[in-house]
Amino acid sequence: MAHKIGVLTSGGDAPGMNAAVRAVARTALHKGMEVVGIRRGYVGLLSGDIIDMNARTVSGIIERGGTCLYTARCPEFRDMAGVKKGYEMCMKLGLDGLVVIGGDGSFRGAGDLSSLGVPCIGIPGTIDNDIQCTEYTIGYDTAMNTAMEMIDKIRDTTQSHDRCSVVEVMGRKAGYIAVNVGIAVGAEAVITLEEPYDLNKIAADIIRAKQGGKTHFLIVVAEGVGQTDVIANSIKDMTGIDSRVTVLGHVQRGGSPTLRDRVLASEMGYHAVQLLDQGIGNRIVGLKDGQVYDIDLQEGLAMKKPFPHRRYEVLTTTAF
Ligand code: ADP
Ligand code: F6P
Repeated sequence: MAHKIGVLTSGGDAPGMNAAVRAVARTALHKGMEVVGIRRGYVGLLSGDIIDMNARTVSGIIERGGTCLYTARCPEFRDMAGVKKGYEMCMKLGLDGLVVIGGDGSFRGAGDLSSLGVPCIGIPGTIDNDIQCTEYTIGYDTAMNTAMEMIDKIRDTTQSHDRCSVVEVMGRKAGYIAVNVGIAVGAEAVITLEEPYDLNKIAADIIRAKQGGKTHFLIVVAEGVGQTDVIANSIKDMTGIDSRVTVLGHVQRGGSPTLRDRVLASEMGYHAVQLLDQGIGNRIVGLKDGQVYDIDLQEGLAMKKPFPHRRYEVLTTTAF
């Protein structure tokens, strides 16, 4: 039903966004639609910064991190006046559908635009995996694998010096990366916002383990806790073990996407265009019970995502 659609990436970038852009463009072209890429998210929508896309525009990007469409945060789009301007640009460009690849902030903008009459579909793209209505967000797997590889390297030097490394991983409001990476690297402790933690207990466990012959320690902290230096200093004071902080930072946002990210991004992009082709908008594409599905945008944003407490238990049970 849609004849001309747009695609944009918005908010923090995530490896696999390119695979989603490619799938959206190729699926739409396959169906005989026209496709435009909107650069730098809603900023480009408001200024009309668009590129016509053909099958070759998206060649050679599936294996690349970042986003070929660039991304941005656009404060103006948070107000209905900005959204109205976006709607007028969609009308000017003749768009009868828009795919928004981003996080929950980007989806709120997509919901506002849908309410004015432009059918929008959200595809979850953020390394944090913090979108309520989906088990999985594009970029999460790559980011976790990158963090795991980096911490494996940190372990080498931590072990050589009999130290404790306190490593901060990304996750503005969520500890999903932290808990999974913590298990994968064999961390002694993981500290997230979702689980209560007791530094005295962690220190006591470390002292006991050291007496039992353990020589070095890894603690993974989710960025959102915001206390990584304080935690490292406390561990040092309480255990007497030389403790160092590493903040992994934006390295986790880059790099070639994993197979999982490429495949799910492709399937989500394909699914989004199927919806627009049927004239359906105001939906979020997600993963539920391992299958790609879609849900009403406002309903999806209102959901609460469970934290994998069982994984946290696996970590604490197997840590020492
Ligand atoms: P993410 O999409 O990763 O959550 P942000 O929260 O930075 O990232 O949001 C990306 C963009 O989405 C913002 O710069 C803004 O343009 C738009 N946006 C965010 N929140 C809203 C909102 N409540 N209503 C409308 N648009 C919003
Ligand atoms: O939401 C993804 C994320 O990488 C968070 O983990 C982090 O807190 C934030 O974005 C950093 O964003 P930026 O440095 O791009 O402003």
